[in-house]
Amino acid sequence: MKNYPYVITISSEKGGVGKTTLATNLAIYLKALAEDLPVSVVSLDNHFTVDKMFSIKGQKTTGDVTDLLLETPGASLLHTGQYGVDYIPSSMALDDLRDAIKGAMVLSRLLAISEIPGILIIDTRPELNIFTQNALYAADRVIIPVKDMPSLENCRNIFDLFDKRGLDKKALSIMPCLIDARIKYQGPFKDHKSLLRAFAINRGYRCSEGYISKSPKVESLNTNPEGKIYPILTHARGTDVYGQYTQLGREILDEYRSVQQPRSMLFHQWLVSEETRKAESLQNRLSRLKDTCLLCGDNMAPNNARKPSFYYEASDGGACGFLDEHCGSTLLLSCLYDTQPTLQENDPLLLMFRESARESVYAIRPFRNGTNPCADVRRFTMDGSPVQKKIHPLVEFEEKGFTKTKNALYSFLFEALGEYPGKMRDAFLMIYPTNPQRPESVLAEETYKRLVKMMRHVAQQIGETSHLTNVET
Ligand SMILES: Nc1ncnc2c1ncn2[C@@H]1O[C@H](COP(=O)(O)OP(=O)(O)OP(=O)(O)O)[C@@H](O)[C@H]1O
Ligand SMILES: [Mg+2]
Repeated sequence: MKNYPYVITISSEKGGVGKTTLATNLAIYLKALAEDLPVSVVSLDNHFTVDKMFSIKGQKTTGDVTDLLLETPGASLLHTGQYGVDYIPSSMALDDLRDAIKGAMVLSRLLAISEIPGILIIDTRPELNIFTQNALYAADRVIIPVKDMPSLENCRNIFDLFDKRGLDKKALSIMPCLIDARIKYQGPFKDHKSLLRAFAINRGYRCSEGYISKSPKVESLNTNPEGKIYPILTHARGTDVYGQYTQLGREILDEYRSVQQPRSMLFHQWLVSEETRKAESLQNRLSRLKDTCLLCGDNMAPNNARKPSFYYEASDGGACGFLDEHCGSTLLLSCLYDTQPTLQENDPLLLMFRESARESVYAIRPFRNGTNPCADVRRFTMDGSPVQKKIHPLVEFEEKGFTKTKNALYSFLFEALGEYPGKMRDAFLMIYPTNPQRPESVLAEETYKRLVKMMRHVAQQIGETSHLTNVET
């Protein structure tokens, strides 16, 4: 049985609302309430409160939170620290990774395969940077501490982020923190927490039942001559906060126990099904490939002497396969520069063209100009800008003296798009360069997606979109 963490993220754009105090102390309370439950903490902030609180004197640590984000399996980075809480060491170098984190779902994927057991609590910075966004999207439960109206106003951005991603906002809950019990109001909202809760509910935010009071005792736990950070559980007995954390810990445990499948497990299931789908789609695409080069008729199977250097696909999905390097470049050269389609392998013109031929994408479309069959041949850069356009009359045979040879362009188009003699389907062929060492890599998910995108772009340029119906999206 694999381990999937139940993830709790503590987040607020407002600084000093008690996020780190909550993240670290909640971990200690959870562990105290359920000894056998693995509880871990990681900080996506670049301070070391977590380490100061949990590291054991003399403990050697290997790896830190940056390694987690750079794909090291999360469970291997856990260190069992004080109070039985596991932690992933923090890092000063976290900010250096900002540009390396591609997207806001990276942590969701990494936690899905992390094998971290039990509950994982993530502390975040007071800003909605890419790390915080990742922590929000990976969470089963987000606790947003608010201590006043400005911090409550700031929550809007987190709720908006969830809206934008189409995520269930039920995961988000506001938690009144640092509540000064001495402040009393006239009217329906008697105190600070009731007022904050009423405002939160009025804005459509879910609000926790509990709250955390402001306590001078708690405040003193990390301002002492020893430079230590003491836990509320052991050093603030008898305060309201002590009881409030016990209550919060119990609520979280009940929630954790009622969840059958944490998000990390669901995400893992999705990853596995995505992999299966990708593998099936690739097999599908491979099975549609023609065995031979449509120009020379030679076998295009791997390990054959031929070099499959171009991939072609009909815009209606009716034909696809590889073209041998010599055949492909000779055909394209003759179409674009009217050279003889029978150039030798070492012809200097051909050698020169080969260099640049691989940096372009081509489209060939048969059409009728009145009663005359023609081919519209175009060349594009790899990012889709048009480079060249040529119109050729399409003839089946070329006569030279007494000899009659079959026209290469005609044969190619007819093999790929022909229906019956003289009639071709209303589609075009796109020719895309491939790596001759691994030609089928063009059909791998990401590359093929780019190819399909390019085909749509080319179709628009040619002004023909009706025949894209069978192309995968
Ligand atoms: N219940 C409490 N009563 C009194 N003081 C508290 C309480 N909880 C936290 N504090 C104090 O409030 C200050 C801010 O707390 P903390 O560092 O947890 O906030 P934060 O939201 O993580 O801040 P930042 O946004 O800077 O990371 C700290 O000095 C902490 O000791
Ligand atoms: Mg903090």
